[in-house]
Amino acid sequence: MGNIIRSNSKILDKARIFEKEAANNISYKEKPSFHLSAPVGWINDPNGFSMFKGEYHLFYQYHPYDIKWGPMHWGHSKTKDFIKWEQLPTVLAPDEEYDMGGCFSGSAIELDGTHVLMYTGVVDKVEEDGSHFIRQTQCVAIGDGIDYEKLDCNPVIDSFLLPEGSKLEDFRDPKMWKDGDYFYVVVGSRHADESGQILLYKSKDLRNWSFVSVLDRSENKLGRMWECPDFFKLDGSDIMIISPQEVKAKGLKFHNGHNTAYLIGQYDKENYKFNRESYEPIDFGLDFYAPQTLETEDGRRIMIGWMQSWENNIVPSSFKWCGMMTIPRELTMKDGHLIQNPIREIENYYKNTVKYENQLIQNEVNLDGILGREIDMTVEISGTDYEDFTISVAKNNEYETIINFDPKKDLISFDRSYSSKLGDLLHKREIKVRNQNGKIKLRLIIDKYSVEIFVNDGEQVMTSTFYTELDATGISFYAKGNATVSIEKHDIVVE
Ligand code: FRU
Repeated sequence: MGNIIRSNSKILDKARIFEKEAANNISYKEKPSFHLSAPVGWINDPNGFSMFKGEYHLFYQYHPYDIKWGPMHWGHSKTKDFIKWEQLPTVLAPDEEYDMGGCFSGSAIELDGTHVLMYTGVVDKVEEDGSHFIRQTQCVAIGDGIDYEKLDCNPVIDSFLLPEGSKLEDFRDPKMWKDGDYFYVVVGSRHADESGQILLYKSKDLRNWSFVSVLDRSENKLGRMWECPDFFKLDGSDIMIISPQEVKAKGLKFHNGHNTAYLIGQYDKENYKFNRESYEPIDFGLDFYAPQTLETEDGRRIMIGWMQSWENNIVPSSFKWCGMMTIPRELTMKDGHLIQNPIREIENYYKNTVKYENQLIQNEVNLDGILGREIDMTVEISGTDYEDFTISVAKNNEYETIINFDPKKDLISFDRSYSSKLGDLLHKREIKVRNQNGKIKLRLIIDKYSVEIFVNDGEQVMTSTFYTELDATGISFYAKGNATVSIEKHDIVVE
C-alpha cells in the first residue's frame, strides 16, 4: 500500500510486555474454555471480526491494566474454527494525537494480502473549566496479522465529512466492506435531535472518503445514540445491526438502557437508500452488546457479541480479567426473523455424551451424568399436564441459576438472583415465546460463567452471565405436574 509509517510506539510496547506477563499469572482453569475472554484486564466490543489468510481474527476493545474500562487499545486473537482461540499481541494503542483518547471500535477486511483495520480515533481533552473537548474520527491501520501501522494520513474521515447538524462528539464504530471498485463504511453518529443515525461513506483507495447518505435514523424512536452498526445481506434481506443507547423499555422486547436490534429492509444500492421494514431485538438476556459479523469462506454469516452489560457488570472484583465474547453464532433468516444457532464446529469438541429420551419429570429430579459447567445441552420439554418447568444449573448447596418455562403464559425466565452475586443489580429477565401447547426446545451453551439459551432452534436467544464458584456443577430439573423431557448433553473439551 505504501505510505505506511513504521510506528515506534512506547505505549503499544508497554501493553505488549505487560499483557504477556500478566496473562501468564492467570490460570486457564478460571477462564472460559471455548469462549474468547479478556487475556488480562478489561475487554468490551468485538472489533475487526474478519478472515485473514485463511484464519478468523478477532480484535476487541481492551484496557489491559485494570478490570474497568480505560484508555482503549485493540487486543487481538485468532481462531481456525471459532472454538479454540489463540492469543496474539495487542495491535493498537492510543499513541497518536488523533487517538490519544482511545482507539475505539471498528472493523477489518483482507486486501491484497494485507489486513486493513478501520477504527475510531478519539480526542478527549479536559479544558481549564473542567469540560471535555471530544472529537471522534475514523482512522486506518494496515498490518500483516501481527503488527499494524497507522496511516500517516489519519484520520481518513474527520468531522468535516459529517452531514450538517450531526454532533461532532459522537461519530464512531466504522464497519467496512468492499463492493466492486469501492470500499464502503457505515458509521454510528448522533443527529442534532440527540438520537442515532447511520452514515454511509465510500472510497476508492481507503484514504480519500466521501459522505454518501444517511441510511437510517432513530428519530428518538429506538433509543438515542446508535453504536456499532453492521450491514449485510442475509437470505435475500438487508440487515442492519445496531446497538442503541438509552432505549426506553417496551414490553419484554426492549429493556431500559443499552439494547441491540436488527433492522430488516431492502437496500437500494443505486440510490444508497435503506428502506427499513421492521426491527426486532437480537438477544433477550442480561449480557449481550455490540455484536459484529463476518462471512466465512463457505458463505455462513457469523455473529459474535460482547457477553457483558454496561449497566449490570457483575464480574467479581477479585478477578484479574473482565469480559467475554458470546459463542460465534450462525445467522439465517426464517419467515422474516433472524435465526441464531451456535457455530456448528462446537460439535468437534463433544465428549461424554449423555442422552435421556421421554423421561418423566415430576417434582425435582437429578439425572445421572447430567452436570457440568462446560456443556452443550438440549432439553426438549413436552406434555400438557404441567404448569411450571425449571432447569437449575451451576448448582451447589448454596446457589443455583434458574431457567424457568411457564407453558401457560409462554414465558421463559432467566434468574441469577441466587448465583452468588450479592449486589442489587438486575438479575432476572423474561421472554415471550411461541405457543406450542407445552412443547419447547431449549439448547443451553454453558461455559463456566455464562449460559446462552437458544430457544426453538435459534428463534430467540437469551444470553447471560453468572459468576458462581466453579465447583457448583449441579443441574436439576423440576416440574409442577408431569412433564416429559428428552435431553442430550455433551461436555465441551478443548485441549
Ligand atoms: C460500545 C462502545 C462503542 C465504542 C466503544 C468504546 O460498547 O461504546 O461505541 O467504540 O464501546 O470502548
